[in-house]
Formats: sequence, C-alpha cells, structure tokens
Amino acid sequence: MSNPSLLILAGDGIGPEVMGQVIRIIDWFGDKRSITFDVTEDLVGGIAYDKHGVPLHDDTMERAQQVDAVLLGAVGGPKYDDLDFSVKPERGLLRLRKEMDLYANLRPAQCFDALADFSSLKKEVVAGLDIMIVRELTSGIYFGEPRGIFEEGNERVGINTQRYTESEIDRVARSAFELARRRGNKVCSMEKANVMESGILWREVVQKVHDEDYPDVELSHMYADTGAMQLCRWPKQFDVIVTDNLFGDLLSDAAAMLTGSLGMLPSASLGAPMANGRPKALYEPVHGSAPDIAGQEKANPIACILSFAMALRYSFDMGDDAKRVEDAVEKVLSDGVRTGDLMQAGEGKAVTTVQMGNAIIDALNTSL
Ligand code: NAD
Ligand code: IPM
Ligand code: MN
Repeated sequence: MSNPSLLILAGDGIGPEVMGQVIRIIDWFGDKRSITFDVTEDLVGGIAYDKHGVPLHDDTMERAQQVDAVLLGAVGGPKYDDLDFSVKPERGLLRLRKEMDLYANLRPAQCFDALADFSSLKKEVVAGLDIMIVRELTSGIYFGEPRGIFEEGNERVGINTQRYTESEIDRVARSAFELARRRGNKVCSMEKANVMESGILWREVVQKVHDEDYPDVELSHMYADTGAMQLCRWPKQFDVIVTDNLFGDLLSDAAAMLTGSLGMLPSASLGAPMANGRPKALYEPVHGSAPDIAGQEKANPIACILSFAMALRYSFDMGDDAKRVEDAVEKVLSDGVRTGDLMQAGEGKAVTTVQMGNAIIDALNTSL
C-alpha cells in the first residue's frame, strides 16, 4: 500500500513558523514510528498571489483534490489589504473549502488542566471543558448570491445573502449527531430563527434529521446570540454545537478563549468520503496569520500541531497516535512550558515557537 499523502500549504505570516513544527513532528513519525507520509508543499494566500497573481493556483487546487489530507497554516496580512477582493489571500482558503466541498468544520475547544488558571474566565467555569463546534463551511452568507457592492440611486449598497438549502443543513446536522454519539450524546443547534427565515428552515431540518435518524441523541435549539452568552456563562453545558458558517466563525473564536488562547485551537474540515473511504479533508488552526507577531518566533505552534493530530484521527485512523501527540502537548503544558500568548505580561520567560516544538518532540520521545 502507498504511503498516506499530505499537501502542506503553510501560507502567510506565522503560518510557515507554526507549520515548521508540524513538519518536524511528521519527520518524527517517520524516524521513530516508521510511519511515512508522502509530503508535498505548495503555496496559498498572499505568498501564492506574490508568485502567481492568484491566492490559489489551479495546479495547487488539483493537488489538494488528490491527496489524502491538506494541512494549512494561515493566510492573509496587511500587505494584501488593498488587493482586489477577488484575489485576496482569504479567497484562496475559501476556494479550497468550497471546491473540496468541506461542509463540516470541526472546531474542538478543550481546556487543558494546566491552562485552566490562565483563561480569562474563572477556573471552575473552564476546567475540564470539552466541546465540539461543528460549523457549516461551504454555504450560508459566505457564498450566497446575490453578493457585491452595487450602485443604488446616488449611493452604493453592499450585499451578502444568507442562503441554505435543506440538503446543506441535513448533511452538517448528520455530522454533528454522528460526532455526538461518540462523545456526550448531546447536540445544541444555534441559529436566529426568531429573525431569519434561513434560521427557521435550519431549526426544522435539524429537528427532522434528529427525529428520523438520531432520536437517541439529546437535541436542543438556541438562538445564536444566547449561545454566545451561554458559552461565556457556563460552557460546560454544551457537548456538540452545530451552527452555520458565520455564527460558527464567531462562536469558535469565542470558544478559543475559553481554552486560554487562539493559539491552542485546531480544526478539521471534512467533506464526503473519497473512493478510499476517507473523507476529503483539510486541517488548519482556527487562528490567522497573526501579523502582529509574525517573523518574531513568538507564535504558539500548538493549534497547528493539534490540527495534525486531528488529521491522524479523522483521515488516517491513527487515533492512538493522535492521542500520543495530544498527550505530549498536555505534558509540556503541565511542565509549565509557555509561549507568550499563554502567559500574563511580566510572568516569566516565554519560549519561542521552535523551543515549544523541541519540548513537544522531547515529550513524544518519552512516549515511546
Ligand atoms: P489572528 O488570528 O491572526 O490574530 C488574532 C490575535 O491572536 C493576534 O493578537 C495574534 O497575535 C494572536 N494569535 C493568533 N494566533 C496565534 C498563535 N498561534 N500564537 C500566538 N498568538 C496568536 O486574527 P486577525 O489579526 O484578525 O487576522 C490576521 C489575518 O489573518 C487577516 O488577514 C485574516 O483574514 C487572517 N485570518 C486567516 C485565518 C486562516 O488562515 N484560517 C483565520 C483567521 C484570520
Ligand atoms: C477562519 C477564518 C476564515 C473564515 C477567513 C480567513 C476566510 O476567519 O477560518 O475562521 O472567516 O472562515
Ligand atoms: Mn475565523
């Protein structure tokens, strides 16, 4: 059998810095566990625009469709702020998600014990937190038509359209119920059915999928604004949250801070199964290119490393090795190793991105 294949798109800003540590871990698996991945690297985002004039070259798109999994760092940055909308770095990422049809974006928010004191919320609110946000990723207001900036009378109007079909809601709801069965067996669906027709349809379809095929899973519905409040008030009430593209974007950044830092949150974007039975998949940290710290060796690589652990679990059926990586992260955190985002100002000495990578590799070595 051929080796599992990975396409690495490190992207912009801190993307290459955090991905550098993932590449070391991939090499570690080859050296120490004799698990070899066929890795190719390519460009996405601003760096692809600099080379090709587009944020994702067609050849890269085609490669992404062929590999077992794509690992992405981050895209964007101030250098590209004035580019035409159609070639902005973020469009490269959105094209990957859309053309690979990665409709289910899994964003787990887990609070490691060692960081419970560090969260901006009280320790008892976040200690032991383990929730999974399932964000619909290929539809909704990110992609709905009509969209654009138009002349209307003597002024301009900016338009985006929230649009969901029943089948789009149905399939992401199924992903959420399936995940819930393997976790705490609870799903909370979030929309704004009080003000949006798309929200009314969302609620109806999620309820129907539940009643027909997942009656054993506990289902509740919540308005997304209340959901944001409840995430800050008592997040441990949730197990799986399923929500649309835009609400999921906002709620997952909020959930990230429950865990201590945006630098901690990984994600998996999954589509339908390919011929080999594996889902089409892209793995990326939830954070962006962090222009404020890029190039300074300050970035926390853990979100990107945990995204690779998700790849091991969801694309390669290597749950034990995924756990090995997660345990190594847990160990270095309990040993007190911290990048700057995980400490208060003046609280001690932060390690660099590479030093955090070193510590995680040391912990992996002791796991053998
Ligand atoms: P950001 O996530 O890049 O940064 C927000 C804050 O979190 C910054 O203060 C940053 O320093 C900090 N941070 C983020 N990741 C960190 C890490 N790993 N370690 C330590 N600190 C970290 O969000 P932003 O500043 O709003 O956006 C910057 C650019 O990134 C924009 O162009 C945006 O469109 C893009 N973006 C890309 C993605 C992606 O590629 N998936 C996601 C979000 C934002
Ligand atoms: C994310 C990001 C992206 C989004 C951007 C960069 C396109 O914020 O992955 O959360 O809005 O989906
Ligand atoms: Mn986001």
